[in-house]
Amino acid sequence: MLHIFPDPSSIADYVSNTLVERIRSKPDVVLGLATGATMEPVYSRFVEKVRQQRVDVSRLTSFNLDEYVGLSGDHPKSYSSYMRQHLFEHLPFDRSRLHLPDGLAPDLDAHSHEYSIKVERCGGIELQLLGVGSNGHIGFNEPGTPFDSRCHVVRLSERTRRDNSRFFEGNAVVPEFAITMGMVEIMQAREILLVATGESKAHIVAEWYRREVTEMVPFTVLKRHPRAKIILDEAAASQLPEQVQRTLMAVPA
Ligand code: F6R
Repeated sequence: MLHIFPDPSSIADYVSNTLVERIRSKPDVVLGLATGATMEPVYSRFVEKVRQQRVDVSRLTSFNLDEYVGLSGDHPKSYSSYMRQHLFEHLPFDRSRLHLPDGLAPDLDAHSHEYSIKVERCGGIELQLLGVGSNGHIGFNEPGTPFDSRCHVVRLSERTRRDNSRFFEGNAVVPEFAITMGMVEIMQAREILLVATGESKAHIVAEWYRREVTEMVPFTVLKRHPRAKIILDEAAASQLPEQVQRTLMAVPA
């Protein structure tokens, strides 16, 4: 389930090829999408490939993992803006099929519940993209989140807020709360591709490798998923035992 690629660019190729294949074989596929710096090269390569290969993206449905509470979809730091900027504006999607949680919903708990039901009504996620936080979070399921959690409102950990402050320049403050798909919706995806790149993820990747499945390192739950791939570049894999690094680099994903 672990795969090591030389660099983020080769990962972008691999992941975008997988996306294109899935959309070609099932144009109304339901995708689970992530934001964050890790996904930027992936979306940019995906846009290029869709254009070159004239792939029809108009029938696919997508559900994003998360959104900050208190930011409108138009706020430049919202995940809604991120998705428009990196993906949605560049291809002829059917906008009515692209879903993100609403960080300004008047009743956030009710909205989280509805979001979860919406995913279920669409038949669940077929292919879920994930990044991972430096503390092992997936979506915004922070360490300690029960594995039976569904879409919910979360108070972001200090570590996550510190990590994400790089996207909030000036005096802007990283919101304290977010809505995130839960571990249940994520684990119900039929296939999962988690991408981790860069040295800043090497420590948590090594932790994933060493540890049993534990709620304290949320992405260890993927060890229980029958079709999850952990896709690393060499920097993110650099704290794995050397023998493991050598073996995995030799095996094409
Ligand atoms: C974003 C998300 C988060 C990020 C994670 C890594 O939608 O769900 O789990 O994937 O925080 O972020 P980057 O890629 O910025 O290191």
